[in-house]
Formats: sequence, C-alpha cells, structure tokens
Amino acid sequence: MFEKTLLAGKRALVTGGGTGLGRSIAARFIELGAKVAICGRRQEVLAETKAALDKEAGEERVSIFPCDIRDAASVEAMLDGIWAEGPLDILVNNAAGNFIAQSEKLSPRAVDAVLNIVAHGTAYVTLGCGRRWIGAGRKGTVLTIATTYAETGSAYVLPSAMAKAAIVAMTRSLAVEWGPKGIRLNAVAPGPFPTAGAWERLVPRADLAQKFETKNPLGRPGRHEELSDLAVYLVSDKSGYINGEVVTIDGGEWLQGAGQFNFLSELTDAEWDSMKPAKR
Ligand code: HXC
Ligand code: NAP
Repeated sequence: MFEKTLLAGKRALVTGGGTGLGRSIAARFIELGAKVAICGRRQEVLAETKAALDKEAGEERVSIFPCDIRDAASVEAMLDGIWAEGPLDILVNNAAGNFIAQSEKLSPRAVDAVLNIVAHGTAYVTLGCGRRWIGAGRKGTVLTIATTYAETGSAYVLPSAMAKAAIVAMTRSLAVEWGPKGIRLNAVAPGPFPTAGAWERLVPRADLAQKFETKNPLGRPGRHEELSDLAVYLVSDKSGYINGEVVTIDGGEWLQGAGQFNFLSELTDAEWDSMKPAKR
C-alpha cells in the first residue's frame, strides 16, 4: 500500500507506544523507515517493546523515555532528551487512561486520573513539540487518537468522553493557529480495536466482549494494521492538504447507533416482502 521508504528519515514520538495501538503504530512507522521514540510510565514495558521492535527492524530504531505525561516538567525533560538526539517530525498522541464507572459514583481523583492524562498530558506534549518546531522554523505533524464518543458523548466513560472532546478541540484549534507555521494536526476516532489495556478496563463481563466487538455494520472489530495504515497516511506528506480533520475508523458503528430506523435490520426478508404493495 505504501512505498517502503515512505517515512525514511522521519523521527516520531508515540506516547503510550509501549503497548496496544501505540505499539502497533510505532511498529508500522518503523517498517516504513522511521525512527521512533516511545514513552509511558512503565520502564520495563518500554524496554520489552524496544527489544522486540529493534529485533524486527534488524537495527536500533526505538528510543525509550519513561515519562508520566501528567507531569509537565517530566514532559519537558523527555522532549529535551528526544531533541538532544535530533528534532521530531511526527507526534502521535496515543497515551490515555480510561475505565467504566457509574458517573455519579466517580470521586474527584477518579475524574482527575483520566482528565490529567488525556486532556492535560496530551496538551503538554503537543505544546512542547509545537514550541520547539516553531522556535526552529521546522515543519511538524501531530496525530491524536480520539474516540467516536468525543463527538457523541458516552454513558459510563464520562471523564474519557470529556477529555477526548477536549483533544479534538485542541486538534482543530491548533490546525488553524499553527497551519501557517507548517504544522498540521489531525485526529482519528477509532471504534473497537481489541487491546489488553482497553479490554481489561472497559469490558466488564466476558459475554459482553463479542457484543462490543461486533455491534457495527461490518460485524467485526478493527484490525490494528487498519488503524496503523491510516496513521501512516495522516502523518505522511501524502496527506499534506488534510489539516484539522477527525477521521472515523469504526466500521460504521456510530452511524448504526445514530440512524433512526437502523433497528429495522431485525426484520426478515419475508416481513419486508409482505410490506410491498401488491402489483396492480
Ligand atoms: C471507579 C476508579 C476506577 C474504576 C480507578 N478509579 N479505577 N474509580 N472505577 N474502575 C479511581 C481510583 O479509585 C482513584 O480514586 C482514582 O481513580 C485514581 O486511581 P489510581 O489507580 O491511583 O490511578 P492511576 O494509577 O493514576 O491510574 C490511572 C487509571 C488507570 C486511568 C485509573 O486505569 C490507568 O493507568 N490507565 C492507563 C491505561 C488505560 O486506561 N488504557 C485504556 C485506554 S482505552 P480514589 O478517590 O479512590 O483515590 C480507551 C478506549 C476508548 O481509552 C474507546 C474504546 C472503544
Ligand atoms: P493501552 O494499551 O492501555 O494504551 C495506553 C497507553 O498509554 C499505555 O502504553 C500506557 O502506558 C500509556 N499511558 C497511560 N497513562 C500514561 C501517562 N500518564 N503517561 C504516559 N503514558 C501513559 O490501550 P489502547 O487500547 O492501545 O489505547 C491507545 C489509544 O487508543 C488511547 O488513546 C485510547 O483512548 C485510544 N482508543 C482505543 C480504542 C480501542 O478500542 N482499543 C478505541 C478508541 C480509542 P503506561 O501504563 O506504562 O503508562
């Protein structure tokens, strides 16, 4: 699908790149020639991912930065460390926290736990990169992993819905403010893509997993490579005129939930046929 050297010479930071979708995106960037920095709170997870991805590449392509993005000073120290090796071209805001809960029972610390990672942490990393790009007169591109419910809201994940809406607003705001400086920002809104991190926090009963994964017109969950290839396109120069966009990749899940008459998929062919007016 892509030229094998599409991202050759590019340097990317994938936050939360030690696990799940961030790891898959980092792996795909590396396949297409990029060098990738990954960050997360757990050093051992980052080290294991680095070893695996470097091994696949056959050379050292990954650098790791243990960092809690909720802490602005740690983010600055990480970005200084990355820039000491060379400037970034690409930022993927992937790190997130989430869990399901009845909203009226959320404690203040529970609200903060998610909002501080997703809204504040993402802003710290994005502003830190932008400040460096603008200061050096360099181009850059940012891809933020949002969710479909950033637009619609969702029951039982209130802090995540609020925070994802905030980072969509960040994407659209900065796309306009920083576009003239050569910095593009886009987002993706994924539906269900199975990962250990999300499923252990969001799927409360085994029998609900299948419902979660198949309640979309395509009847299946997303494949990591489908999201990774979209990410590659959006951070590459091939998408150079796309700026401030949120691309939904959910098999049509949210539309299925939205359309007034979509529930009529329950009708049988015989029921549809019986409704046709008889030929005169
Ligand atoms: C209610 C909860 C809770 C839960 C934690 N808390 N889990 N409250 N229900 N299930 C409360 C705690 O009781 C505490 O409040 C406060 O939140 C902070 O908890 P800590 O465990 O101290 O937080 P911390 O160690 O900082 O961990 C942050 C976290 C955790 C967000 C709670 O889940 C995490 O580390 N997540 C990172 C990875 C992740 O979430 N991946 C999934 C992303 S998936 P009190 O008041 O008791 O002290 C995603 C998918 C979206 O976003 C779309 C899917 C289709
Ligand atoms: P995941 O594997 O749990 O990924 C979350 C990553 O973020 C972890 O590597 C975690 O590492 C890191 N992280 C969390 N808090 C952090 C902090 N304070 N500082 C630095 N890093 C932190 O889950 P995932 O499913 O791959 O999710 C990745 C992204 O996709 C998230 O933005 C999520 O909202 C989004 N998304 C996922 C789905 C899905 O179906 N999977 C759907 C829609 C959107 P540490 O714990 O080591 O810090």
